[in-house]
Amino acid sequence: MRSKLVVGNWKMNGSRAANAELLSNIVAGLDGASAACAVCVPCVYLHQTQELLAGSPMKVGAQDVSDKACGAFTGEVAASMLVEYDCQYVIVGHSERRAYHMETSELVACKAEAVLRAGMTPIVCVGETLEERDAGQTNAVVSEQLEAVLKLLDEADVAKLVVAYEPVWAIGTGKTATPAMAQEVHAALRAQLRAHSAEVADTVPLLYGGSMKPDNAKELMAQPDIDGGLIGGAALKAADFLAIIHAAR
Ligand code: PGA
Repeated sequence: MRSKLVVGNWKMNGSRAANAELLSNIVAGLDGASAACAVCVPCVYLHQTQELLAGSPMKVGAQDVSDKACGAFTGEVAASMLVEYDCQYVIVGHSERRAYHMETSELVACKAEAVLRAGMTPIVCVGETLEERDAGQTNAVVSEQLEAVLKLLDEADVAKLVVAYEPVWAIGTGKTATPAMAQEVHAALRAQLRAHSAEVADTVPLLYGGSMKPDNAKELMAQPDIDGGLIGGAALKAADFLAIIHAAR
């Protein structure tokens, strides 16, 4: 039985004042029975987040990372730097990075490897656009995105991944995949993992992301292959994020 994981993705939102309020309200609402959880914040807020979450079950994460170790890569942040702020999770291959920063599946795989080498957990995002779904290409698209990562990593590293299925058309739009639609893709991803390694297929958490909210979280996470959520908008409101974490219990 896989335990549930709920991860907030703040994207490019926050301010020192707003973060302090949000994080203290979240910490106050967690209890011993809460599902595993984390917040992926903009890099400049990692230090503040690390301090405010010290001693709490809520873990710290980042939203992207360089695939390079160090050197002349202006503007980039290395995995070893994230570790210094107690980061445990790093999102790689979010659809916004793929779309606006031209990240390829091969680059995303190298980023996942850099995260693993630094001892953190990559959350590898996959997902199709509406055009791709309408053209019946959903499984082909997500399987190509996952395959690039599976090809680069050995079995021991694949066992340490988290995969997030985020249909692009559901992100920030208020349109959620129905639990059945999401489960169908999750089952296909699980089968792909199984074809790669029967050992790890049942342990890799598969998160759903895309307009997950308190009112749909429970039903989505009740699906057999949905092991939690990657939450954007609703992670910016303490009450909503906590309600999703509690729904995952
Ligand atoms: P959303 O974003 O919950 O606002 O749809 C999810 C994500 O992009 O990770």
